[in-house]
Amino acid sequence: MTNLHKDTHEITELILKAAAKARKEASSEPEPALTKPVKWPVNCIVGPGLEGAIACESKVGYVNGSKGWLIYRGYDIFDLCAYSTYEEVSYLLLHGSLPTENQLNTFKEQLVKCRSLPNTIRLLLGFPIENMNPMAVLRMGSNLMRQEFTYVDKDGVSLVEAEIISTDEDSIPMETPPKGEKRAIYEFVSKNKSKEAALSKGYLEPAAGYKSCYRLISGVASIAAAIAQIRRGHLPVEYDPELSHAANLIYMMSGKYPSAQEERIMDIALILHADHGINASTFAAMVVASTLSDIYLSVGSGIAALNGPLHGGANKKVLDMLTEIGSVDNVKPWYEKARKKKKKVMGFGHRVYKTYDPRARILSPLAKHLAKKNKKSALFFEIAQTLEKEVVSTIGAQKGVFPNVDFYSGIVYHSLGIPLDMFTPIFAVSRVAGWTARVTEYLKHNRIFRPRAIYTGSFDKNYIPIDKRKTK
Ligand code: ACO
Repeated sequence: MTNLHKDTHEITELILKAAAKARKEASSEPEPALTKPVKWPVNCIVGPGLEGAIACESKVGYVNGSKGWLIYRGYDIFDLCAYSTYEEVSYLLLHGSLPTENQLNTFKEQLVKCRSLPNTIRLLLGFPIENMNPMAVLRMGSNLMRQEFTYVDKDGVSLVEAEIISTDEDSIPMETPPKGEKRAIYEFVSKNKSKEAALSKGYLEPAAGYKSCYRLISGVASIAAAIAQIRRGHLPVEYDPELSHAANLIYMMSGKYPSAQEERIMDIALILHADHGINASTFAAMVVASTLSDIYLSVGSGIAALNGPLHGGANKKVLDMLTEIGSVDNVKPWYEKARKKKKKVMGFGHRVYKTYDPRARILSPLAKHLAKKNKKSALFFEIAQTLEKEVVSTIGAQKGVFPNVDFYSGIVYHSLGIPLDMFTPIFAVSRVAGWTARVTEYLKHNRIFRPRAIYTGSFDKNYIPIDKRKTK
């Protein structure tokens, strides 16, 4: 409790109330087949999209879809949201246990140090960010961080962490090809910052070390904040070293200091989105890492996968949908029309949860709490609650379709003054902790991912030269 501001007790109460309701409705037995070490190879029933496939063992987190549980490293999500902070949860996910006070302070200092990305931001400013998809820019930003913080893996040089920023003035592209070269050579590592020099100073570590994880946790947040500012026509805001990760994110995105309650709710939203089993984006990050690529590219792939409307992109779509519905009276007719057209309702359903997503249980009262101060958010919340009743009463129990994390997060972000197109980037900012924790864990016993497809094509076609082919 000591971590948390005294003005936010009301929020803790809301979470504890949601927790009590969830615990009453869900029994307390984990799934034995999915919670014990296995002897490989394992037998499992696999559906399309790898549904049901077991890919690895993990101690990072557990999702029980029929009971609506979410556990990070043994701790219930309700307890973490009620008593913890995003920094503590990131440490927990990465290192496996809750930090001591000293460990937490050192970790926070590291995160603060990693918040500044001068070259990445400078390079990003050269792109037409206001016309680009923010998730595409965020992905590009994570790749630019790779340039800023690692020695580029040119011929025969494996990627390693660099302490110094390497894209300085004299390493910018040469305009005149050097003698004997047919084209200009882009040189990103100046001689005195070579791998050898770095090795002799003893500060190299593999590019998938914890330091890279800290850089990504802090850095992706700084990039997202810079994107928000640039898209509003402003310059990026410098971080404030006194602020928490959540408060800094709001401050750097808007230039305004959040209230204690706003900071706490953003912090809870970050905790809730930090990890969630081997979902599509986590799997994408793990697949890339399993080839022994590197953590910056892995996180970039996670960002790319998260962008889709069936995954992290749904939070934005939920607000579009609530705007389209427009009024509480229009919920029923809108939903009936959607059902007739077999249209999916955004923010509902989940591959794993076939009951209430615990994250939605927490975000719903927080969205209501925040919406009190904002007329538009209050209307969104009312429409959302009415829609929830309609969907749950029609297909809830029948198809296992309930609100997921994205259903109420959009209303929370809207109330916090965050622009619509930054909703999914904020999801990514938070998920970096889970991506890096899972990748780091997997790499300890790495095996390259390689599923197979069932080939249903033919085998006996004769090659026809192009001039003899007929249009079908
Ligand atoms: N609205 C209406 N019906 C739904 C919905 C929904 N949102 N989700 C699932 N259903 C129905 C399906 O139509 C299907 O019905 P049927 O058996 O009559 O054909 C049944 O429930 C099973 O659904 P599937 O699509 O097979 O479930 P799947 O596990 O493949 O998909 C997914 C999960 C992609 C999340 C899906 O529920 C969906 O598209 N939801 C809307 C988008 C969304 O909110 N995504 C965010 C997910 S959370 C996250 O990624 C962070």
